[in-house]
Amino acid sequence: MSATSNGHQTRRTFAIISHPDAGKTTLTEKLLLNSGAIHLAGQVAERGERRRTRSDWMEIEQKRGISITSSVMTFEHDGLTLNLLDTPGHADFSEDTYRTLTAVDSAIMVIDAAKGIEAQTLKLFEVCRLRDIPIITFVNKIDREARDTLEILDEIMETLALDTAPMMWPVGAGVDFSGLIDLEQGRFVNPDGTPEADAPGVTAIASRFATTQNQTIAAAMEGLELARESLPKFDLEAYREGHLTPVYFGSALKSIGVRELLEAVCRFAPSPRIQPARPEPVDPAGAKCTGFVFKVQANMDPNHRDRVAFVRLAAGTMSRGMKLKNVRSGKEIKVNNPMFFFARERELADSAVAGDVVGIPNHGTLSVGDTLTEGADITVTGIPNFAPELLRRVHLSDTSKTKQLAKALSDLAEEGVIQVFKPSIGAGYYVGAVGPLQLEVLTSRAQAEYGVPIRIEPAQYVTARWVKVGDEKAFEKFAALHRLNIAQDRYGDPVFLAPSQWEIDRCAKDFPELTFMATKDRG
Ligand code: G4P
Repeated sequence: MSATSNGHQTRRTFAIISHPDAGKTTLTEKLLLNSGAIHLAGQVAERGERRRTRSDWMEIEQKRGISITSSVMTFEHDGLTLNLLDTPGHADFSEDTYRTLTAVDSAIMVIDAAKGIEAQTLKLFEVCRLRDIPIITFVNKIDREARDTLEILDEIMETLALDTAPMMWPVGAGVDFSGLIDLEQGRFVNPDGTPEADAPGVTAIASRFATTQNQTIAAAMEGLELARESLPKFDLEAYREGHLTPVYFGSALKSIGVRELLEAVCRFAPSPRIQPARPEPVDPAGAKCTGFVFKVQANMDPNHRDRVAFVRLAAGTMSRGMKLKNVRSGKEIKVNNPMFFFARERELADSAVAGDVVGIPNHGTLSVGDTLTEGADITVTGIPNFAPELLRRVHLSDTSKTKQLAKALSDLAEEGVIQVFKPSIGAGYYVGAVGPLQLEVLTSRAQAEYGVPIRIEPAQYVTARWVKVGDEKAFEKFAALHRLNIAQDRYGDPVFLAPSQWEIDRCAKDFPELTFMATKDRG
């Protein structure tokens, strides 16, 4: 992973977005296999095993069959370095997922061929759209009974308001699956996933099925004709701008269509893009090393109480031992042990370029949203915190553990497992979550990793709003009237713990000088 002055052009940093069960894990492994990193694919499975035995909260994951952690996997293909950022698939962990999506330049959207666009796919897609992230679609499980191809394409167009350009066309599905037609290269891919050597063209391949008696295949060929007449052709610019998605079909499980998908990522996905920042955007070709923390994970290895900040580099070259300034704290840090990740394996990173993700072990000096730079002060923007949909009180039965509780809450809030709010009056903490599973994870990890037994109790508040204080006097007046509702988040920013939406609306009306925000940009 050596860097050249413009090494970032060889980086493709992307995520896979999907609804749970669509096949993201299987596809990840098959992408690694197809990249030639075969010896590494075993480590993914090994990682899965180790992860499952790690601690109680992992048991929750196992029980529910969901994936809760994000990690980074780096592999090489065709002279390119691909950084795949794993996004947790469960709706409860959306906040962590959203942040991960701020660190990618493109995404693969995996859809189950029988189910089409599902709730979580839609949510994640919307986050991608906010940032105009280009998307390649992979319609998975074509080896099983699937919906009609045109119907799937229509659904993507209608639900996501996104043009679709089919790149492959499945000849039947399930028991009738008879291969894929590569529409771009005019080549046939056999039902076992191997491509034919020559490329006779789409019309010639289609003619092979002209006299079929199989109704499913006949319908597929009719659909192909319609699609060729009516659907847009692939247009690189439209894809890069986020207006059009090239659509691939296949089976992750059976390694059908995966190679073609991997090649599409290498050929079409953009190299590192310009990163929004204040006072001005960061150009990946810039010489000064700049990066931002999009994720912090504590206790990755329970035997070593470690804490790793995942930094996405946005410009320049990071080399081991260099000094970077944390713009938020104004402090300089020496990057002694930056790490690359393959699955759970770590490797010291001697140098990394824009697009790369490095892990920096630290003891609390780095937080999500922090910008590190060797250049002039700059703050990367667009890394959000979201107002919690569930707000609960934390009850600590063993009061001798107050300190450990504070540490557990601070670490886990840092990771994005929960949000924590400290009321300005009285003791104790409130925690916020997007879904109930996060609270289970909190309880379980507080016990397992910090030895703190806690109970989650109902709170008299329904949600929280960050208060943007434009006018100090107005805020003082507001705080005096709502003393019991004022808290601070872990950055010390003021938060209004709201008993109802009605109350938020009323306060907004009564105090027009203050803004009550459902999202806080950490930038
Ligand atoms: P996820 O990470 O998106 O949640 O999905 P994952 O890859 O875990 O896949 C979910 C299930 O779908 C798994 O089955 C997996 O084997 C299956 N699957 C993935 N891709 C394909 C495909 O292309 N074709 C078919 N037929 N199945 C596919 P499972 O029974 O839940 O788990 P397992 O016991 O098979 O591991």
